[in-house]
Amino acid sequence: MSDKFNILVVEDDVATGKVISFELKAKGYNSRCFENAEEALVFFRKNSVDLILVDYTLPGMNGEEFFLKVKELNPLMPVIFITALQSVDKAVQLLKMGAYTYLTKPLKMEELHHNIKNALEKVTLVKENLHLQEKLKETFSFKNYVFNSEGMQKILHMVMRVATSNSNVLITGESGTGKDVIAHIIHYCSGRKDHQLVKVNLASLPATLIEAELFGAVKGAYTGAVANRPGKFEEADKGTLFLDEIGELSLDIQVKLLRVIQDREVTRLGSNKPIKVDIRLITATNRNIQESVKEKKFREDLFYRLNVINIDLPPLRERKEDIPLLIDLFIKKFNQREGKQIKTLSKDALNALMKYPFPGNIRELENIIERALVLARGEMLGTDDLPVFVLSRESPGSVSFNVNIDSSLAIRSLPNRLTAIEKDILEKTLKRHNYHQTNAARELGISEARLRYKVRTLGVHRTKKNGENR
Ligand SMILES: Nc1ncnc2c1ncn2[C@@H]1O[C@H](COP(=O)(O)OP(=O)(O)OP(=O)(O)O)[C@@H](O)[C@H]1O
Ligand SMILES: [Mg+2]
Repeated sequence: MSDKFNILVVEDDVATGKVISFELKAKGYNSRCFENAEEALVFFRKNSVDLILVDYTLPGMNGEEFFLKVKELNPLMPVIFITALQSVDKAVQLLKMGAYTYLTKPLKMEELHHNIKNALEKVTLVKENLHLQEKLKETFSFKNYVFNSEGMQKILHMVMRVATSNSNVLITGESGTGKDVIAHIIHYCSGRKDHQLVKVNLASLPATLIEAELFGAVKGAYTGAVANRPGKFEEADKGTLFLDEIGELSLDIQVKLLRVIQDREVTRLGSNKPIKVDIRLITATNRNIQESVKEKKFREDLFYRLNVINIDLPPLRERKEDIPLLIDLFIKKFNQREGKQIKTLSKDALNALMKYPFPGNIRELENIIERALVLARGEMLGTDDLPVFVLSRESPGSVSFNVNIDSSLAIRSLPNRLTAIEKDILEKTLKRHNYHQTNAARELGISEARLRYKVRTLGVHRTKKNGENR
């Protein structure tokens, strides 16, 4: 297939048709010319066409009827009319009906080319945009997520019921449990999916900027407000506004937010003109907001407004049935990204992951699989590819050291203690890897030569005899 644009020309005057075709070919377009609309329509139905040039007055089906049929088949098709001067009024009406433009006879070739170029650019942009939106919808379709456990099945049902309503939704759950994912699914399954989902992370904005960011500001409303700007509420009009980390909102902005929710209108900073907004509000937090309400850090009235529907995501350790499917999903994802062909993971590795408490939830599991896949050499992920804290079932921040340190003051010095800890880590790591030095060195992020040196100088002894591999 050629990557040239295909232009369909419908012109009953053979001489004009030939001139146009010649000009188009000279500019590098493919063109097909028909003398009547009926034949052109048959061709249009069966072939890929990027733009149409059509004479308004044609024998049989006229240009307008042809245009309406084309639009029915493809509303985005750019159509340029060629008209005699006396039918310009008609042509203006056609513009209102969605024609791209009209050119009057006799045709000026420069004008023709200019219009064709612009129309094609515009339609390419629109198509790219649609493609992006489709891709986004695809990304947030269910098949890319795991909702296997009973808890998540219930949540999925709730999400589907909620999506079609306009009620405010508060999504709660520990970090990494999928709050963002749920907010996106609600939006893309709602009647608002063709409008924007606007997300604001309230924790990442300085308090002084949040107000202007949410509600907008007029020029001069504050130092630095150099132009009128709409806020996120206006941006999300007809769509969904997703306020993440809602627990971080200061009390004075909570009051303003409450007002916007009640009145369904926003007033930009420095203005007194309210603007109507039609939004569905989704909020999320990993804090216990009810606690904050009790402590008077979060307004009770706002809490009730936001919490019309609560979706509380269980931590991963309470839905372990999801772990194997999530692992499969992430192996596929990172295989694709890293160009690897990992098939599965070993039983031992799965057992270790099933026992691990995942303080960082799905995000942590995803990171662990990503890391394992990058490290893995064969077709299977093994325990060697998992981080040490998974195998010892301790989270990386809470490793405790149980080392014997001589009680004499000189020996309890900091360097001596560090040496003792270092020795302890080496012993434990080597033991866990069955004294396989390559794997132990890899886990510790040091070279094998360095590991051997440390073993020698620190006097690391093996506590287990079997299975040394090198
Ligand atoms: N049900 C699921 N199936 C598969 N992957 C998921 C699922 N839920 C979440 N994830 C993945 O886990 C990661 C964390 O999810 P997400 O960002 O939605 O969590 P979060 O609760 O918003 O976290 P935080 O509190 O840190 O903002 C993302 O990469 C997401 O794609
Ligand atoms: Mg999030």
